Amino acid sequence: MLEFSSGHTQGQLSLIELAPSILSADFAHLAAAVQAVTEGGATVLHVDVMDGHFVPNITIGPPVVASLRKVTRLPLDVHLMIENPDQFIPAFVEAGADWISVHQEACVHLHRTLELIQSHGVNAGVVINPATPVGVLEEVLEMVHHVLVMSVNPGFGGQRFIPFTLDKVRKLVMMRAARRATFRIEIDGGISTETIAEAVRAGVEILVAGNAIFGHGRPKENTQQLLKLAGEATLQKV
Ligand code: DX5
Ligand code: ZN
Repeated sequence: MLEFSSGHTQGQLSLIELAPSILSADFAHLAAAVQAVTEGGATVLHVDVMDGHFVPNITIGPPVVASLRKVTRLPLDVHLMIENPDQFIPAFVEAGADWISVHQEACVHLHRTLELIQSHGVNAGVVINPATPVGVLEEVLEMVHHVLVMSVNPGFGGQRFIPFTLDKVRKLVMMRAARRATFRIEIDGGISTETIAEAVRAGVEILVAGNAIFGHGRPKENTQQLLKLAGEATLQKV
């Protein structure tokens, strides 16, 4: 884990963490993928759950999370891109999720859903799509562990980073300071050697990367390189 100050709440040291998304890994060899990124310095594992309704793709469910749980001690950051998340939250908790995030766009009763996650003793996060303004989160910012800003439209790995989403990261940094809140800021989609520094400079602390880590082999080295670039960018922050 790299200990760089990320400009979090005044006087507090926050960590820059890389959360490899196993979506781009070979599903037949997930244990090897997890081992490689762990050796490379990853400290969180990002797990993308898609239902074919909220997003136009289907991925994995609780059984795969349970299998991952057996091969790693890293926190499992479960990103639910599904309708009716309340129905499935208990199963993901049972499977071993440490963090569960739900989309604001998928939750009619967002506060209730976040409370449901917390009631299971799991870190609750909220996610917003690129077109969703951060203002809709104002009332829940003090209760969440992390806010995940989508920097692509969810559904697939390997998409192009959408630059205006960093304006939302900057707004979140200001909203957090104004409230003295403690949530962490995560970004997801199109993070690569080209985009990671800019994301860190905008205020992101947890960087999800799928294609950049698993898309072309050498996941351990890719993890190391992304962490190095993220660390250097932290030092460039004003
Ligand atoms: C997209 C997923 C992402 C995705 C990121 O819907 O939520 O986590 O795997 O992949 P890359 O880094 O390839 O954009
Ligand atoms: Zn994701």
